[in-house]
Amino acid sequence: QALAEGVTPIVIGLAADSGCGKSTFMRRVTSTFGGDQCGPLGGGFGNGGWETNTLVSDMATVICLDDYHLNDRGGRKISGLTALNTAEQKFDLMYEHVRALKEGKSVMKPIYNHVNGTLDAPEKIEPTPVIIIEGLHPFVDERVRDLIDFSLYLDISPAVKLNWKIQRDMEERGHSLESILASIEARKPDFDAYIEPQKQFADYIIEVLPTDLDPEDKKTLKVRAIQRKGVPDFSPTYLFDEGSEITWIPSADKLSSPAPGIKVAYRQEEYFGNDVAVLEMDGNFDNIQELVYVESNLGNTNSKFYGEVTQAMLSLADSPGSNNGTGLMQTLAAFAIRELYNKKAAAAKLASNKKVAAAAA
Ligand code: ADP
Ligand code: G6P
Repeated sequence: QALAEGVTPIVIGLAADSGCGKSTFMRRVTSTFGGDQCGPLGGGFGNGGWETNTLVSDMATVICLDDYHLNDRGGRKISGLTALNTAEQKFDLMYEHVRALKEGKSVMKPIYNHVNGTLDAPEKIEPTPVIIIEGLHPFVDERVRDLIDFSLYLDISPAVKLNWKIQRDMEERGHSLESILASIEARKPDFDAYIEPQKQFADYIIEVLPTDLDPEDKKTLKVRAIQRKGVPDFSPTYLFDEGSEITWIPSADKLSSPAPGIKVAYRQEEYFGNDVAVLEMDGNFDNIQELVYVESNLGNTNSKFYGEVTQAMLSLADSPGSNNGTGLMQTLAAFAIRELYNKKAAAAKLASNKKVAAAAA
């Protein structure tokens, strides 16, 4: 849809390493914007859930920042640098494109083809009310950061990352454990140097760690939504009582869970010198429907009606993380993004009404 009068797109940034669940997360976000109507546009095939690099609906456009790679795969063989290295990314073009889209202009965006490792012919991207840039480097360039209205970082701890990789590359693709370990080791220095430092710029960090409930358990996850306070148009989700410290073990009759059980917490902390509210869920639940028991005790969920968070979880029940805090926190983040958009759109409408009234007077 064409942008309404006076409406400027909001820009959402999502940073994460590849293979950390960005596609799944994006599906939760776009589905809150009516992502069912999403149609494919352009070429390349993503390596995980996305069919194309750019996913477009009437409301939202998702741009994969791999499209701004400086070199194709062959070029990186010659440069000897990984795609994680900021020297392999075209930040000027990225900035120009995000700025243009935010000004309501279309752009010709390159396409990085993940299958061939080639840079394909550019595609035209039209501005939509919500522009999401996701990938390795959304917060590296200060000019791009200044254009972003809300920034998210998916922080998957090394132990969990290894587990997910084993699950996918060893169990599903037949790679050896040695080769998986070697590829993680090879990426680590560049990950530490170029990706991880972006955490400090994020408004909302989803941290995924091994459970605290049983030291032997390597599969169960503890998930923390680290929510920055004082971000315009964003009110962190809380448990029971805003600003308090709470650990809660929900009644097993109302929220049944497999061993080692489930624990929810809410804390006030500091993160890179900023005040944050942290919502935690450690453990899995058996039935998504029962999540409404947790939801009923949360505040600032940005839902439109009672139970909407649980309903959104049910609608994507088959996606990874739908039985634990990864799905819950991603859904809450998606709702926060929708609310941010609604508030900005309302403010823009008010401003344009005032302009009309002033012109008429
Ligand atoms: P990305 O888009 O960042 O490359 P994907 O969304 O394709 O990542 O996820 C990569 C893999 O990680 C999935 O195939 C899945 O095995 C695993 N994964 C992602 N999110 C979760 C989750 N919340 N819980 C368990 N496994 C997950
Ligand atoms: C990262 C980037 C991808 C790139 C991959 C492998 O995950 O996000 O765009 O394709 O690294 O890099 P390679 O040099 O093997 O293509």
